[in-house]
Amino acid sequence: MLGRLNHVALAVPDLSAAVSTYRDMLGAQLSAPLALPEHGVTVVFVTLENTKVELLEPLGEASPIAPFLQRNPGGGMHHLCYEVGDIRAARDRLVEGGARVLGDGEPKTGAHGKPVLFLHPKDFFGTLIELEEV
Ligand code: CO
Repeated sequence: MLGRLNHVALAVPDLSAAVSTYRDMLGAQLSAPLALPEHGVTVVFVTLENTKVELLEPLGEASPIAPFLQRNPGGGMHHLCYEVGDIRAARDRLVEGGARVLGDGEPKTGAHGKPVLFLHPKDFFGTLIELEEV
C-alpha cells in the first residue's frame, strides 16, 4: 500500500530562522514560503535528492500545529508523509484494520495540490502519518 516517503515535516517556531539554517548552514535548496490558511500553516519545502523536508510554521490562531509547538517550543518532527496510489482505498483498508483517520475521514487538498489524509499518531507508534495520493 505504501509507496515512497514524500516528505518529513518539521514544526518550527520561526520559519525565517529555519530557512536561514537550512539554506545557509546546511546549503539546501528551498522553495519560497507558501501560506496555506485552510491548513493553518505556512510551509517551505527543502528539496533533497530522494525526498523533501517540509518546514511548518503556525498560521492563524487555530493552527493545528500550535499545540505541538506548545509541547515542543524549539520545534520538532511533526509528521511523515507516505505516498499511496488510491487514498480512499488506503483509508478504507486502514479503518477496517482499526486505525483512526483524523477529521471527517475525507481527503483534503494538501500542500502539493494532491489529496491527503492524516492518521492518528497513537495508532502508529507516536508518529502522525500523512498519506498523499500520487
Ligand atoms: Co505534510
